[in-house]
Amino acid sequence: VKPAGFDLILFGGTGDLAWRKLMPALFQAFRHGTLPEGGRIIGVARDALTDEQYRTLIESRFRDVDGPKQPSPTEFARFAAMLHYVRMDLSKPEDYQALAQTLAQRQAATVVMYVATAPGLFTTVVEQLAAAGLNTPRTRVVLEKPLGHDLASNRAINAAVGRAFGERQIFRIDHYLGKPAVQNLFALRFGNALFEPLWRRETIANIQITIAEDLGVEKRGQFYDSTGALRDMVQNHALQLLCAIAMEPPINAHADAIRDEKLKVLRSLKAWTPETLAQHVVRGQYSAGNRSGKAVPGYLQEAGVPAGSDTETYVALRTEIENWRWAGVPFYIRTGKRLAAREAHIVVNFRPAPHPIFKAPIGAANKLVINLQPRDGLELHLLAEGQAQRVPAASGSNVTQTLAPVQLDLDFDKRFGSERVGAYERLLLDVIDGRLNLFVRSDEQEEAWQWVQPILEHWQSGQMPPRPYAAGTWGPSAASAMIARDGHCWSEEA
Ligand code: BG6
Repeated sequence: VKPAGFDLILFGGTGDLAWRKLMPALFQAFRHGTLPEGGRIIGVARDALTDEQYRTLIESRFRDVDGPKQPSPTEFARFAAMLHYVRMDLSKPEDYQALAQTLAQRQAATVVMYVATAPGLFTTVVEQLAAAGLNTPRTRVVLEKPLGHDLASNRAINAAVGRAFGERQIFRIDHYLGKPAVQNLFALRFGNALFEPLWRRETIANIQITIAEDLGVEKRGQFYDSTGALRDMVQNHALQLLCAIAMEPPINAHADAIRDEKLKVLRSLKAWTPETLAQHVVRGQYSAGNRSGKAVPGYLQEAGVPAGSDTETYVALRTEIENWRWAGVPFYIRTGKRLAAREAHIVVNFRPAPHPIFKAPIGAANKLVINLQPRDGLELHLLAEGQAQRVPAASGSNVTQTLAPVQLDLDFDKRFGSERVGAYERLLLDVIDGRLNLFVRSDEQEEAWQWVQPILEHWQSGQMPPRPYAAGTWGPSAASAMIARDGHCWSEEA
């Protein structure tokens, strides 16, 4: 039999991620004709459902999800023809045999096992897949974060997955790497020669990475409480952005060339000491406040959050990259829930002109802003003399030369159209095509865990309870104080 199409098996097929992200992304790919033809998408969960019931369930959830334009019934029916359902208890070996039989109905050229279950099940699933002979060379396994809750558990998962699959079959997702803005950051840095000579300690004063969310923990209180912002956002998304901004140019665009360079950045991160843990990390938790003028509860009042929880919903930190390019340049990372806006950006702050001959507003040096959210674009902030003031001749000179900040603005959504490939759509297509560039290698992931581990341990010892910040603000004032000690400020304070 000639191998045909792909089979994508979605463990956690009725879960939150499936509804909110994966199905809409697969649908978008289908709508745009980029999903290879002849594929099957097989949802797996515990519920007793027929294929037809699963399709109906997905269609009803589609109606609740914002984002992609709603499909018409005929369009959905064409997509739904790809959808199937297999009921499984993931702890039962015999259920994997049943899955094996479904897959044996045809020999798909590519079999994707997407493990979007509770993290506690990853090891069981991969071990059982191997035991049932489902780890063939045609198979790829996709693992959703969080992969572990600390260094030891991450190593245990990676070891178990590594016994069942080769590294080139393992696709560890960090959906931030799929965001168009991150592709554009690679394009900016490695497709253009303009910035490279400036991309170093001699010209750059500091770099700030902000991933701010205005939403709270929503319905995920219980999950979130055992995770917190450091594990949920810093260990993965923020550190991946840091790698993308700080890495050396890779020797080519192949997956391992890129991942080798990212690994070097992670290995060069300054090691924590008791002093830096105390002074360069700010931990916060939101209290009651406002969102768009409406009162919202504090974290401790959210459903599923245990009384007195000390889980952080905000982290700000300062680090350095100890290599020739970056020695001494502070890198600031901050992320949090219930902040003043949903905004993700990287700000590259350049040093001021060495010898000022004009009057310039205080703090106004050049900066390059890479916007990820809500818009995807680039801003280059410059100083210009657009607002020269006429002054009476009697004062000795008739024009004052004062520079004012102006900016060059590039909005990629406007430039390329807003119907661009979304993060999950891109990453799912990459898995089906076998492209690993935008996925995280095990050594990279372990290095990132290793770096956050001392922070986790410091917090576990109870030495740093989270500082409260009112919902709808930019986080604890201690984060502003931390950056001010270096003589800098966060972008919104400039
Ligand atoms: C997820 C986190 O990985 O990223 C969530 O688990 C967070 O807590 C989300 O809300 C943010 O992703 P995005 O793409 O909306 O910025």
